[in-house]
Amino acid sequence: MSHPRPHAFPTRLMQALLACSLLLGNAAQAAEKLAHVTILATGGTIAGSGATSTTTVGYTAATVGVDRLIQAVPELAKVAQVKGEQVFQIASENMSNEHWLTLAKRVNTLLAQPDVDGIVITHGTDTLEETAYFLDLVVKSRKPVVVVGAMRPGTALSADGPINLYNAVLLAASQEAIGKGVLVALNDQIHAARDVTKTNTSTLDSFKTPELGMLGYIQGNKPYFYHLSARQHTVDTEFDISQLNILPQVDIVYGYANMGPAALNAVVAAGAKGVIHAGVGDGSLASKVVPALSAARKQGVLIVRASRVGQGIVARNGEANDDELDFVAADTLNPQKARILLMLALTRTTDSKEIQRIFYRY
Ligand code: SIN
Repeated sequence: MSHPRPHAFPTRLMQALLACSLLLGNAAQAAEKLAHVTILATGGTIAGSGATSTTTVGYTAATVGVDRLIQAVPELAKVAQVKGEQVFQIASENMSNEHWLTLAKRVNTLLAQPDVDGIVITHGTDTLEETAYFLDLVVKSRKPVVVVGAMRPGTALSADGPINLYNAVLLAASQEAIGKGVLVALNDQIHAARDVTKTNTSTLDSFKTPELGMLGYIQGNKPYFYHLSARQHTVDTEFDISQLNILPQVDIVYGYANMGPAALNAVVAAGAKGVIHAGVGDGSLASKVVPALSAARKQGVLIVRASRVGQGIVARNGEANDDELDFVAADTLNPQKARILLMLALTRTTDSKEIQRIFYRY
């Protein structure tokens, strides 16, 4: 008859406990090695909810808080140590210059901390490209900043928010994203803030960088980069918003057949310090508008000729004599991004030659 060894059970228990504590210790060590990423939530469809699972339009944006966004993607814990902050809770058509200043200051404060390795900003897609470009010009860090949104609310079948958020955190936690400027990540693709634009009102592949090309993909839990923007960004810009609470008023006037000066005169009367003229074709100016533009310039309003076309360079002294009119050409920036660059340029100078230099640099 065999007798159980008197200490077999306690010994096995001890071994099991030891194994558990080793496993837990390893898990803790592995988590400790993960990058620290802060998610700054601002609202948008990525935080939106609809009446039914098939509601993909006509839903309400900005209803779900950052904690629930994070809880909905437990996989985030595998790629980063994530913290969330609710900075705003708005639909992005309500994004203002003041929101941008608040957000940019928070990003700069966080990135200056040694315990923050990267930032993800969740954002409505309607003005996402604008916020991304603003940050690209004013963030003072080489650490990754990734702006992400979703085209479908979280309640929808095949919602894109969770995978987009996962990819954005993975990207912000990666070594590959360091020093590449502010990035936009949606639909498994990586874009440069300067060049990306929303191209479709509702489809999942809305964000594109036509012609100039996106930077890369996120696939199989890894970012792959193929291109980089040649324009200066983040630590290499001359813009400093740390002491600013307001930005100069810059408005956009849209070009069309039969255009007259009414809209231009209205924004100048409302106090615009700069105007982006989103002209037809290569930034062409209608004869009926030129006298009002010229008068505005003589009053000190900076005039930038952009194009409503969406692609290509607006040629300086091409469709208008910019030297004579003392105007600035927008290069390849779309009107909404030209507005951002002009606002920031006006915080440095009112000299049109200097501002033209700035438009060719950023
Ligand atoms: C928004 O821009 O806030 C609403 C639309 C979206 O996020 O897709």
